[in-house]
Amino acid sequence: MNQMLLTNIHQLINVRQQPALLRGKELSSLPILENAWLLIVNGRIADFGTMDAYPEVSNVMDLKGASVLPCWCDSHTHLVFAASREEEFVDKIKGMSYEDIAAKGGGILNSARRLALTTEEALYTSAKQRLVDIIRLGTGAVEIKSGYGLSVEAEIKMLRVIKQLKETSPIPIKATFLGAHTYPLLFKEDHEGYIDQIIHEMLPIIDREQLADYIDVFCEKGFFSPEETIRICEAGKKIGLQPKIHANQLNLSGGVQAGIQTNAISVDHLETMDDETIQLLASSNTIGTLLPTAAYFLRMPFQPARQLIDSGTAIALASDYNPGSSPSGNMNMVVSMSCIQMKMLPEEAINAATLNGAYAMELEKEVGSITIGKRANLIITQPIPSIAYLPYAFGSNLIDRVLINGEVFG
Ligand code: NIG
Ligand code: FE
Repeated sequence: MNQMLLTNIHQLINVRQQPALLRGKELSSLPILENAWLLIVNGRIADFGTMDAYPEVSNVMDLKGASVLPCWCDSHTHLVFAASREEEFVDKIKGMSYEDIAAKGGGILNSARRLALTTEEALYTSAKQRLVDIIRLGTGAVEIKSGYGLSVEAEIKMLRVIKQLKETSPIPIKATFLGAHTYPLLFKEDHEGYIDQIIHEMLPIIDREQLADYIDVFCEKGFFSPEETIRICEAGKKIGLQPKIHANQLNLSGGVQAGIQTNAISVDHLETMDDETIQLLASSNTIGTLLPTAAYFLRMPFQPARQLIDSGTAIALASDYNPGSSPSGNMNMVVSMSCIQMKMLPEEAINAATLNGAYAMELEKEVGSITIGKRANLIITQPIPSIAYLPYAFGSNLIDRVLINGEVFG
């Protein structure tokens, strides 16, 4: 039996006996144990309590007043990609819009062109490095999408890379098939032809090789319509892939409605919302995943987090790590930005980036809170006066160590 006792924890954050998906006011309650210890056995949280009485264990890590919280659960990324796109970043500084860039073959199509020329091994190597980088930044579970392939061969190549990452990663990974990210040039005038390829060629291989957990569609004007989104999601559901879709990023696209109709686990982005759509989402079982760093990077209005929370929507926060709209997988920054720009309380942001993020990947039994039996995927902070200091001191590295399955991640 492999045991380790963490002692002298200033605050043990997000301690829950029976975790549940949080909505409305529940999001602002972040249970904390002061002056605590935590026992890890075989990589999992075995027990915790306050320092007045703690178990006798030979292997002790004295945290000397640091705080401990569950690792970030990043439920929306595209971290497998062939190359960065900083030239588009500069084009945008000079005045081009995201849609202008997409229309001239940049954006997602640019990434697809480069991915087609990159081997599975090279994609794996670069993605693995990004995975290591985000774990160092405190991410302890992550979802990764395909969607830069846009052909049978390249989508399957991406999904095989994600599968290989899953098999070698110390943190849990969920894979999402996003063949419907945009129409490839070959099918620019033949949308039915591409949808047919997704449904009748890609999905059968994904099913046979068990390459994905979820299905995603970019439901947006100029990309996939709500009807197309529903058709693709229903086909995915037939092989056991629940939808997790890109909705309402650039327009009131009908994506939220399509997601709710197909019983999506989450609808993600939500920069563009109106009251009716917020009410609809609030009264559904679908999680609303906000990606503030994408809004920031594209200079778009931030997601209406306050209205969403106040209406009772279950919201999660994620990084959207991708080369086009959020070239950063730093969840610390996501949490900070959510408090600063979307007026989320620190407690709300931490809950949305941990427990609700875990729910948005159906990993709530494994990660997302300090709960007996869950993986010891933990952030050990620098000494901080209070939890509000985390989002307040934006851009500072406040992580001292990250434990993954109870071991210090190197
Ligand atoms: O989530 N919105 C669609 N997809 C990505 C961006 C893709 C890209 O520009 O490469 C997103 O923001
Ligand atoms: Fe995305």
